[in-house]
Formats: sequence, C-alpha cells, structure tokens
Amino acid sequence: MRIGVLTAGGDAPGLNAAIRAIGQLALRDGHDIIGVQNGWAGLASEYAGAPLAPKDIAGIVGQGGTILGTARYNLDDPAGGRDRVLSAIENHLDALIAIGGDGTQNISHWLSERGAPLVGVPKTLDNDLLGTDYCIGFDTAAGIVAESLDRLHTTAASHHRVMVVETMGRATGWVATVGGLSGNADLVIIPEFPLTMDQVMEHLASRRRRGYGYSIVVVAEGVNLETLGGHEANGVPTEGIGGVRLATRGVGNFVAARIEELGNYEVRTTVLGHLQRGGAPSSYDRWWATRVGAAAYEAVVSSTFGVIPVVRGNDIVLKPLSSVTGGQRQVPRDLYELATAFD
Ligand code: F6P
Repeated sequence: MRIGVLTAGGDAPGLNAAIRAIGQLALRDGHDIIGVQNGWAGLASEYAGAPLAPKDIAGIVGQGGTILGTARYNLDDPAGGRDRVLSAIENHLDALIAIGGDGTQNISHWLSERGAPLVGVPKTLDNDLLGTDYCIGFDTAAGIVAESLDRLHTTAASHHRVMVVETMGRATGWVATVGGLSGNADLVIIPEFPLTMDQVMEHLASRRRRGYGYSIVVVAEGVNLETLGGHEANGVPTEGIGGVRLATRGVGNFVAARIEELGNYEVRTTVLGHLQRGGAPSSYDRWWATRVGAAAYEAVVSSTFGVIPVVRGNDIVLKPLSSVTGGQRQVPRDLYELATAFD
C-alpha cells in the first residue's frame, strides 16, 4: 500500500512521535510511507508527497514541530482546493492518515464521505477536539505553562506583584486550566466560565487580606473582553483560513491594565505565546502520540476508513470522523473549580 501521512493546522509537540510510529510500522510491514509536505496545502497545490526512508523517521520521537511541515490552509478558496485534494489522494495514495485538530478532521470527514480512504489522528494543544480525552501536544503545552508559573511565582513574590499570564487555547480554556492547576495559579479566567472584573478584584483583595503579597492570574487568550468590562476586540485575521489570531486581541494586557486601574497593584503581563508549541514533547505526548499513531496505522491496514482513534480513559477506540467534528470539547465545571480552589 502507498500510505500517505500529513500534519495540518498548528504544529504541536508529539507530531513527530506519531509520524515515526506510523512510518516505521508501515516500513516494517513492507508498505510505502509517503510524507505529504505542509498539510492539505501539499495536496491542493502541486502534489507534494515523497516516500519517507527509514533514516527520515529515525530518532525523531523527541523532536518538536513536524518533519513534514504544516500549514493553515483555506480549502474553501474559490479555486476549489477540496476537489484537488480529493484527486491528489485518488491519483497518488491508497490511504491517507491526517494528523490534526477539528479543522483538519472536518476536512478528513468531508473527503471520507466522498470515498477517500482517510483515517484521522487527534492533535491540538488546545485539547478541544470532541470525543477524545487526549490530543497530541496538550500535555507538553500545559507543562510549559506550569513551569512558567513556577518561575513567575518567585519573581512575583519578590516584588509583591500581580503577574497576569496569557495562554493559548482558542475558544476553550484547557491549557489555562490544567497549566494553572499544575503551576499553582491563584485565579484562572477561561471562556467557559466568564468572570467579571469585580470578581477578579475581590479575589486579589481576598488574597491580600489573607496575607499574600502577590498573585498569579492565568487568562486564556479566548476569553470574552466584554464580560471583563471591555469592548470586544476584532484581532488580526489568521493567514489563509479566516478566523482571528486570538493573541492579537491582547487579553492578558487588557486584564493587567484593568487590575492596575481598579486597584492598588503593581502588575506585569507575560504572554506565553508560541513557547507553548515549540520544543521537545513531554514523555506523555511521546508515548500517547505513538499509541494513537499506531492505532491509525492498524486501522489503515485493516481497511477501516472514515475513523479516528480517540482516547477514552486509558483505552484507544476507533470512532467515526463525524463524531469529532461540529463543536469543541469544553472544560468541565468540576475541573475548573478544582483549578481555582487553592492558594
Ligand atoms: O490551535 C493551536 C493554537 O496554538 C491556538 O492555541 C492559537 O490560538 C493558535 O494556534 C495560534 O496559531 P498561529 O500559530 O497561526 O499563530
């Protein structure tokens, strides 16, 4: 079989572990493994796929990014990108494994409904893909937030400051919540459970009353500015795919400015940005990316298409691609409350 593999959307630590798993298992079993460059863009323009040799996928399990390259690509452009992708798959591949988040799996589902032999793999450090407890990249990102908060604690305490830390996450607050819980944030503000500035200020005042000279406030990039007393910012459009680069809305700086305006606090902002996406994957991301990658490969060789291996507890189960599209998995209230229960 000629098995293609691509990574689409934002990169995430752990992608190379999945690519290695798929590639090495395929080569072991005598298949050709075709690395498609730059996600859907690589299929939609000139067909950009080349066989991967064993040396291409050796030693990459701990390497960040994706050796295949990735892109945010608008397949709904007037030139009809989707049809070109469909014919590229028909002409060049017997199967395609698409590693990506909800945007990618929407496209996988669309292609699969038109007969393309597609299997998905869940990836997004936002951790918001429906139907799976695990997405490649999230554990590393949450770990980077936690480590950053550890570092910010010492300088916050020394200067008696409020540190506002903005995380990635798009429309959900997984990275902020789990990173904040693990890094001992004092307050976490996420889109799922909006807070008013009165609540933020009361929380800071309560810490002061209890003798704490500093606070760490984590805010997810996607929170609504209006509930915090601001005007909703448009943000800069994302290249290619429409939508907005949420970081350009400046939520962290906005919250910091409001805290200074409303109370007697010295405040600093840290926007963690792409530090959350870069660098080596955690051990957890390495072995679970390997597991979901291997499960996708097994689905392909048993000709089970239109599916995606998802994680439920400690198990991997194959689910229809349709089951992970059409919404975002949100942070549950009990986890959010736990993340904000401690000083
Ligand atoms: O979806 C992953 C993510 O890192 C989001 O958390 C963030 O909003 C976005 O990608 C940033 O994308 P880009 O790399 O295009 O700026």
